[in-house]
Parts: sequence; C-alpha cells; structure tokens
Amino acid sequence: MIPMALNNDDKAFLKDVVWGLKQNQKQLACKYFYNERGSKLFDAICLLEEYYPTRTETALLKTYGKEIASYIGPEVCLIEYGCGSLVKTRILIDALERPCLFIPIDISEEHLLRASQNLASQYHELEILPHVADFTKPMVLPKQARYKNIKCVGFFPGSTIGNFSPSEAIKFLKGMAKTIGQGGGLLIGVDMKKDEKILVQAYDDNSGVTASFNLNLIERINQELGGNFDVSAFKHKANYNNIKGRIELFLVSLKKQTVRIQNFEFSFEKNETIHTENSYKYHINEFISLAERAGFFTIKTWVDEKNLFSLHYLKTGA
Ligand code: AVJ
Repeated sequence: MIPMALNNDDKAFLKDVVWGLKQNQKQLACKYFYNERGSKLFDAICLLEEYYPTRTETALLKTYGKEIASYIGPEVCLIEYGCGSLVKTRILIDALERPCLFIPIDISEEHLLRASQNLASQYHELEILPHVADFTKPMVLPKQARYKNIKCVGFFPGSTIGNFSPSEAIKFLKGMAKTIGQGGGLLIGVDMKKDEKILVQAYDDNSGVTASFNLNLIERINQELGGNFDVSAFKHKANYNNIKGRIELFLVSLKKQTVRIQNFEFSFEKNETIHTENSYKYHINEFISLAERAGFFTIKTWVDEKNLFSLHYLKTGA
C-alpha cells in the first residue's frame, strides 16, 4: 500500500483518530465534525424544526438586544469565540452603541476571512480584526485590542460551552476571563436541561440530518486519512445521560467488522460504539455557579418563555 501524503493538520487529525479508536470506549473529538461538508450539515441542523437552540437564542438576542446592549455599554471591543455565519453577531452589533472593534476568532482561516470581509462590507465604521486561532488553547490577541484602552466583551453563542465537561468549561472560562481582562464582560448562550424527549429529538431529527452530520466524521476519515470505513455499516445514536446532564452522540457498528486507516487496524464488535460528542445542559443556577468558579459574576440572565435556552451576561472582577 502506498502511504498517503499528509500535511501537518492531517497528521494531528490522524494521531487523534488513532488514539481515540484505541481506547476501550472508542471516541473521536467533536471538533473534527467541521470540515466543509460537516459545516454545511451543521448549518442545516440549525434550521431543523427539532433543533430549537439556534432560533431560540436568535429570538432572545432580537427581543432583548437593546437591554443587553445597555448592560454591555458603548464603544466596546467585541470578541467572538468561533465565528459561524455571524448571523447572531449582526443582531448584537446592530443593538450595541458604537462598537469600535470586532475580533472574530476561528480556527478556519478561509471561513474566518470570508465571513469577516462580508461583515466589513456592511459595517464601514467597525474595525474588524479577524484572528486565526484554536480558541480552546491559550492565545494572545492582536496588539490593537490590548493597547487601545477599551472594554472587551466576549461573545460565545450557540451553547458551544456544552461541548466541554464542567471542569473543562471552568478552565476554559478562566482563560477567557484573562483574555477579556478586568472589568470586561461575556455574553454566553447556554442550552438548558429540559424534558428528555425534546433534548433527544433535537439530536436525532426525523429527516436524518444529524445522523448525516455524525456519520460524516468517518466519511471524513476515509477521505482525508485514507480510511476504509463502510459508512453504511454504522448508525447514528443520540442518548441523554441523565446523571451527567448531557446529550451523548455515538456511531454504532451494525456488525462485527474491521476498519483500516493507513497501516492501523481497528476491530469493532456488533453494536460497539464510537463516542463522538457530548453536549452538556445546565439549569440556570448550575451555570451561574459554574461561571462563578471561573471568576465571573452573573449580571443578568435571559430565558425564553418555554425555558429552553438561556443567555447570560457575565462580568470579570471589578
Ligand atoms: C455546536 C456544540 C452547540 O451541541 O448542540 C448539534 C453541536 N451536534 N447537533 C450542540 C451539535 C449535533 C452543537 N454545538
């Protein structure tokens, strides 16, 4: 077999995949969902009837935008962690009073620059400084943000915080507090605990979009790492773990089989699973105390009338 030529990103991907598939409970990191096809499938998830988080958070931003803006204050530097299509960002920016600087952070340079240019063409007054980085790792922001003596406010929508375990989330929020600096703020979207049926449906929709999103991970391994997964021999599963308070996604092997990736072999028993994602859910008070343990004070929380999703405005110490 001729080995595939891999670039550095692929090598890191391969290393993570091999490590994960060697574990007792096989696992793959959810950050690898988002190749081009995965990002498109995620956009499709956000439009699903069953997937309430996106439309609920967007509605909260629209309804309470002016109130949120009054807490945030005028002339701030807004820092967004992981920029999607910037739909929610636009709503926030429109509500804010003369925001002076916007720093979108994303791991995908191409996506980040496209989204930033698009925004820049509509917001001439706003200085935009796209920053390519893996925001889960410690980072130094572009100079302008630190030397301009302005208040920094983080924006972390979508309940992406739910991908971290509570202890990882605290560590991550501590890092954010450091980046934002003293007297800064953080507007964060957090999905709430609720009726298990609503939760499971949101991650196992009738049209099978989430199933395709999950299965795309092994398809991606085939394409980018030269794997030979038979995608049709796996199925998507979503489960709510009541003890841990999280949705768990799995890929379930439909038969006993062996999968090869480069010169590595992995055997699967029938019904053996690969754990592909956790999405933690929080009651309001659970999240407030988690944020407190990371050094944030909760200034105000907004929740929709069905108690599905929450938006919190937090501040760092004094
Ligand atoms: C992007 C992590 C917020 O957990 O709801 C959606 C990802 N996975 N459907 C979530 C996801 C399957 C999503 N986050």
